[in-house]
Amino acid sequence: SKPEPLKVMLSGAPASGKGTQCGFITKKYGLVHISAGDLLRAEIAEGTENGKRAKEYMERGQLVPDEIVVTMVKERLFQTDAQENGWLLDGYPRSLSQAQALEDLGIQPDIFIVLEVSEESLVERVVGRRLDPVTGKIYHLKYLPPETEEIAARLTQRFDDTEEKVKLRLQTFHENVEAVLSIYEDKMIKIDGNASKEEIFSEIDAALTRVLEEKSAASVAT
Ligand code: AP5
Repeated sequence: SKPEPLKVMLSGAPASGKGTQCGFITKKYGLVHISAGDLLRAEIAEGTENGKRAKEYMERGQLVPDEIVVTMVKERLFQTDAQENGWLLDGYPRSLSQAQALEDLGIQPDIFIVLEVSEESLVERVVGRRLDPVTGKIYHLKYLPPETEEIAARLTQRFDDTEEKVKLRLQTFHENVEAVLSIYEDKMIKIDGNASKEEIFSEIDAALTRVLEEKSAASVAT
């Protein structure tokens, strides 16, 4: 039978490079990228009730309550494109209760990737980050400056990307990370996220290729 599509979770502290790597992964593997943070920012942009509530938590660097996030991600995950092409969950689950909600639905990843980056780099990455609202591309004033003056002029900054806010986001991350990792221990690979984005992707790429080979071997055997 045909192997099932790839199911990937990507975890890491704020600004560890999750969104950047998701760009590379979706381009090569065609997975559906589901970012909890992006879904929440879309709700805020649309001015929904959930968006208004979510923003209060995001401004404090806290986790948005499960009653908003769990349903939102679940609905996206069960859409046909994600079921057919496979999915890449970015920044979810981020707490024990979110991981348990997925377990209860029988949703498990093939691989759980953790990006490990030193604390001082994280702060520097956050404050230098800029976004292109037209292409969605993630830039950094020092590490990945915009290619043209035109792009430079339209770059925006996230409302939670200040040094003060990232400290709160980091604190929330540290409070929850161990519990989440303990659930996915047997599927976990840790990657040094201090390296260049190309080096990091080549490690992720090798790991995903391995998983795909294992899945196709298993589907031949059954
Ligand atoms: P979310 O949007 O998920 O933010 P985050 O986890 O803080 O992660 P970021 O998006 O800030 O960073 P990233 O790891 O994607 O890094 P990037 O690639 O951009 O969440 C925001 C908020 O939403 C949370 O605080 C919470 O309130 C809420 N929320 C989200 N998920 C939730 C959940 N599951 N439950 C409840 N609430 C939730 O890179 C960062 C910068 O570094 C960029 O400028 C980039 O160019 C640069 N860079 C990337 N890689 C490298 C490299 N290798 N070398 C040098 N620079 C690099």
